[in-house]
Amino acid sequence: MSYDGRFRVWRGDADGGDLADFTVEVNEGEVVLDIIHRLQATQAPDLAVRWNCKAGKCGSCSAEINGRPRLMCMTRMSTFEEGETVTVTPLRAFPVIRDLVTDVSFNYEKARAVPAFAPPADLAPGDYRMQQVDVERSQEFRKCIECFLCQDVCHVIRDHEDNKQAYAGPRFLMRIAELDMHPLDQADRRQAAQHEHGLGLCNITKCCTEVCPEHIKITDNALIPLKERVVDHSYDPLVWLGSKIRRR
Ligand code: F3S
Repeated sequence: MSYDGRFRVWRGDADGGDLADFTVEVNEGEVVLDIIHRLQATQAPDLAVRWNCKAGKCGSCSAEINGRPRLMCMTRMSTFEEGETVTVTPLRAFPVIRDLVTDVSFNYEKARAVPAFAPPADLAPGDYRMQQVDVERSQEFRKCIECFLCQDVCHVIRDHEDNKQAYAGPRFLMRIAELDMHPLDQADRRQAAQHEHGLGLCNITKCCTEVCPEHIKITDNALIPLKERVVDHSYDPLVWLGSKIRRR
């Protein structure tokens, strides 16, 4: 069963652009990325789109579909009514390169700013030991495919370009939380999260969690616990005293 679907796709580059209307065949079982590929094959061979696995695992085909950040390969056409116009636009929080392709290098800069796992200097790799509960706690965060939909949707940078300097975004605050929860990590992640990566700017709107294609509970399991750890460290007098004594 097929039908002619109506689509609006953003065409343009860094200097500007506009929405273009297309009618494209839609077949049963297809996803939005199938339609974009058919559009390239039949009507717009120069349409720029980034994709790779078409299985929801590479995180490449991120876009906004009817205004919502989503993976094109994981958005079934059956989600929409046959007569509905489906609008596909590039991620809004990042600069457009061309058509549906954006420059996501902001995210790589933020990734580089998070120091790597820092085990005790005298611990040989073969001597690492962790409780299963600690392994499981961070396992959820490691499902991240770096599609950057959470980075795109978070209003702290989506609506405030000038916050980008000060704010790492949910993906990288989650990475800091993962490292802070690691029992062998020695780095001071909490002060860095608060003062260098803008944890305080997150006001727990949970939009990041809503768009995560891996269903990671970014806010509840990473960001809120990290905020609690920061508060404990900074304001609990017993924790403060304990840290001073331990440092002696
Ligand atoms: Fe942004 Fe998620 Fe916090 S969307 S404001 S990082 S809860």
